[in-house]
Amino acid sequence: MSEWHSIDQHERYLYRVTENIGKTFTGEILVSSRSFTEYCEHFALDPSLLRSGKVLDCPGGASDFGARIRELGGRAVSADPQYALSPQELGRLVDGEQARVNAWVHAQPDRFGLRPGAPWPLAAAWRATAEGFLSDYRRCRTEGSGHYVSAALPALPFPDREFTLVISGFLLFSYTDRFDLDFHLSAVRELLRVCCGQVRLHPLNDSSGRPYPYMRKFLDILHGEGVTSRLLDVTSSSDPRDDRTLVLVPRTVTR
Ligand SMILES: C[S@@+](CC[C@H](N)C(=O)[O-])C[C@H]1O[C@@H](n2cnc3c(N)ncnc32)[C@H](O)[C@@H]1O
Repeated sequence: MSEWHSIDQHERYLYRVTENIGKTFTGEILVSSRSFTEYCEHFALDPSLLRSGKVLDCPGGASDFGARIRELGGRAVSADPQYALSPQELGRLVDGEQARVNAWVHAQPDRFGLRPGAPWPLAAAWRATAEGFLSDYRRCRTEGSGHYVSAALPALPFPDREFTLVISGFLLFSYTDRFDLDFHLSAVRELLRVCCGQVRLHPLNDSSGRPYPYMRKFLDILHGEGVTSRLLDVTSSSDPRDDRTLVLVPRTVTR
């Protein structure tokens, strides 16, 4: 039995047993503010990997990931459809999103380990991240630095093989109610097209914490196109169930 076959069976089992436990994020896709520290956990990143070439974060949301890479001396671009908004408009949206994520987390105290009446432990970090992001976004927009690009998968305005490392968190696999398998494949082919190194995807569960049910088929199709994959065990301080990250290597990369 192949590694992927057994993983797929395990995922289908987990999907069934957790069917009624989790809560999917409903409404518009959240514009979240995960910190650089969370990204490093989720994607098993270290400073040398981040400085090894140009990094793409898609979707970047209201995270300071790209800004922090640049502070460390690296090169990073963030892409998200919400970067069509002005700094003022995005600031207002992100403010509202902090309230929305707090309400969502507090509706699931067991999942997020909340004590009655206690704040969500990551709330302060997300607020600080959003502030850092917004001030960098404002500055970059004024300077025309090109660090924030308005774009929506499955079409990115970048040349082939532009980025050494492509990071994509909390969009693919997270919103299975909105995006079907075809969308996932088109989006990932596009991330692979602009990549000359590795694409890393996290989490592999939907927003309710259930494993993506089409993972086996998704990977079979990509493997058939010459893409290679491996799984990394990772930790997540927001949701312990998000404990794996998928690494994909495009066909054209010499292994
Ligand atoms: C949950 S956030 C994740 C942001 C960031 N990666 C993080 O972990 O904080 C999802 C983001 O996906 C963006 N988004 C929605 N549709 C998209 C698309 N078709 N292509 C790229 N990004 C999209 C949203 O604007 C939102 O900022």
